[in-house]
Amino acid sequence: MPMQRLSNKRVLLGVTGSIAAYKAADVIRRLREAGAEVRVVMTEGAKAFVTPLTFQALSGSPVHENLLDKEAEAAMGHIELARWADVILIAPASANSLTGLAHGRADELLHAVCLASDVPLAIAPAMNKHMWADPATQENVRLLAQRGVIFIGPDSGEQACGDVGEGRMIDSETIVARITELFSVGSLSGLTLLVTAGPTREALDPVRYLSNHSSGKMGYAIAEAAIEAGAKVILVSGPVALETPDRVTRINVESAADMEAAVKEQITAAEIFVSTAAVADYRPVNVQQEKIKKKENRITLELEKNTDILAMVKADYAKTFCVGFAAETQDLENYARAKLKQKNIEMIAANLVGSAATKTSGTFNSDLNELNVYWQGGETKLELGSKTKLARQLVALIAQRFSLHEINVQNENNVISLKQ
Ligand code: PMT
Repeated sequence: MPMQRLSNKRVLLGVTGSIAAYKAADVIRRLREAGAEVRVVMTEGAKAFVTPLTFQALSGSPVHENLLDKEAEAAMGHIELARWADVILIAPASANSLTGLAHGRADELLHAVCLASDVPLAIAPAMNKHMWADPATQENVRLLAQRGVIFIGPDSGEQACGDVGEGRMIDSETIVARITELFSVGSLSGLTLLVTAGPTREALDPVRYLSNHSSGKMGYAIAEAAIEAGAKVILVSGPVALETPDRVTRINVESAADMEAAVKEQITAAEIFVSTAAVADYRPVNVQQEKIKKKENRITLELEKNTDILAMVKADYAKTFCVGFAAETQDLENYARAKLKQKNIEMIAANLVGSAATKTSGTFNSDLNELNVYWQGGETKLELGSKTKLARQLVALIAQRFSLHEINVQNENNVISLKQ
């Protein structure tokens, strides 16, 4: 019995009009062997090659065929199918289907489901080598790849029409392996994650400093969750009263400038940067060498801006997958989205702090948190829970977004090499 690496996963398999449609039978068999629940949507063209009954028998569920079927829409129409799926796989995908998808057509049930869905879409093209090489098809592939669609294959070799070249559907084993990879979420094995945590202290004189209420609990929970997920973890920590989690490399810092220097020193080793620290935005311009004496009734402190460490990492180490936090006392979404954009980062986790954060006792130093996570084109809410639980959920989300991000980078590189 193979390892059930797709258990609890729902794969919506789209089969389109290609001679390779019969090979979808083996894809279904392998997906089910891997533990996935499979539902099949067939286009009109696909039914000319294989009967729906074949796929119904293999998938164990009725095959979905028509967009405008009253009964189907009442039971499981395109919106429900889109919601049901964890991933949509189209294998084989004909040239016609690529056109429909690239141009957002909703003329077929399958295309309408893809439009209505925000889950990953993987495509295994299958067509004659000239059709594949045609600039119109290549333009569709480029458009889809730019939108994050995952291409699996095609393969090259002898084709059903007798030609030899690129365009054959890749073997079902490879297809299922790529789908499985997509779900290796929660897994950060082989990766290094750099996380900052806690407050910084900005010295005024040898005995006083400016700081904030961060306890480090959220950042330390992330370090621990990342270790559980298999990452190598470097924790750059402001002054906190917490034990270093097992197997974490901890670097202690005091000021924002110290934190900046430590992050710069470590960042090249990391693929992922999570900036949980409550870094002081400003520091005193003049740090007094001796203790400031109590004389005047009123004194003025002059402050200057610290480097935004997170923005610096994204600007100078563009390949790093950057996750920020936004601590806000109001208007959480707007401020968080603005930070996501300004800092040009991949993801931001926003939490309310202070008196507005009634459910989490202010969030600072609390064991509880709730997070709204935003990224370009998506968002999710991590409901009220312990920081330990939320850190695990956030790390799983980071792993998932990171692997999609890597696929996008690969796609972009492929598109560039196609152009060359
Ligand atoms: O430590 P705890 O008591 O558990 O509390 C957790 C927390 C509330 C501190 C944490 O969940 C959190 O929200 N951390 C971010 C705090 C913060 O500084 O937020 P911000 O909105 O001011 O900054 C936005 C982002 O820029 C953050 O990722 C921050 O780390 C980063 N930043 C800010 C200023 C600066 N000079 N350099 C930075 O890198």
